[in-house]
Amino acid sequence: MALSPDFVKEKSMIIIDKIMSSDPYRKAKSLMVYADFRNEVRTGGLIIRALEAGKKVSVPITDVREKKLTPSRLLAYPDDLAPGAWGIPEPRPGCVRPVDPGELDLVVVPGVAFDARGNRLGYGGGFYDRFLPRTRPGAVYIAPAFEVQLVEDVFPGPHDVPVHIVVTEKRIITAGPAEPV
Ligand SMILES: Nc1ncnc2c1ncn2[C@@H]1O[C@H](COP(=O)(O)OP(=O)(O)OP(=O)(O)O)[C@@H](O)[C@H]1O
Ligand SMILES: [Mg+2]
Repeated sequence: MALSPDFVKEKSMIIIDKIMSSDPYRKAKSLMVYADFRNEVRTGGLIIRALEAGKKVSVPITDVREKKLTPSRLLAYPDDLAPGAWGIPEPRPGCVRPVDPGELDLVVVPGVAFDARGNRLGYGGGFYDRFLPRTRPGAVYIAPAFEVQLVEDVFPGPHDVPVHIVVTEKRIITAGPAEPV
C-alpha cells in the first residue's frame, strides 16, 4: 500500500511486457487474469492486448460464501466490469459468462508476497488455493509481482498451491515446470 501510483504504473508496464513476451502467454488461447485492485500489479494493458490478439480472456468472479472463484469471459475491458466483492472489479450482471476452469491454459494470479520457489501468500481466503486445482494439468500459473513482494520464505501450508512463474520488474523466476500450455 506504500507504493506510489507512479511507481505502480511504471513497474506494472515493465512486468506485463515481460509476461506478454513469455512463451506461456504467447501460446495461451484461454487465460484467466485477475482484474487489479488497489496497488496490485496492473493487468489492464495485458487484458486489452490479449483481447486484441483474439485470446479468450476471463476474469474471476468471487463467491464469498462458497469461497469460490468462477472465471467469466470478458468481451470489453473495462466496460464489462464493476466493483464486486470487497470492491474488486468483476463482470457486472449481464456480463457474466462462465468459463470451464479446465479449458484455461494460463492463470494470472495475484498475491501479497512470493518466494523464489513460487510459494504464495494471498489475502487469506484460500480462493486461489481452491481454484487452481480445478485447472487442467499443464495449465501455467504466473504471478506478476513487484520486486518488494519477494521474500526469502513464504512458509506454505499443505493446501497452498505454488505458482510456476513469478515475474517482477527486475526478473523472471521460473519456480516450477512451466513448459506445457
Ligand atoms: N483446497 C482447500 N480446501 C479447504 N480449505 C482450504 C483449501 N485451501 C485453503 N483452505 C483454507 O482457507 C484458509 C485460507 O488459506 P490461505 O491462508 O492459504 O489463503 P491465501 O492463499 O492467502 O488466500 P487467497 O488464495 O484467497 O489469496 C486456510 O485456513 C485453509 O485452511
Ligand atoms: Mg494460500
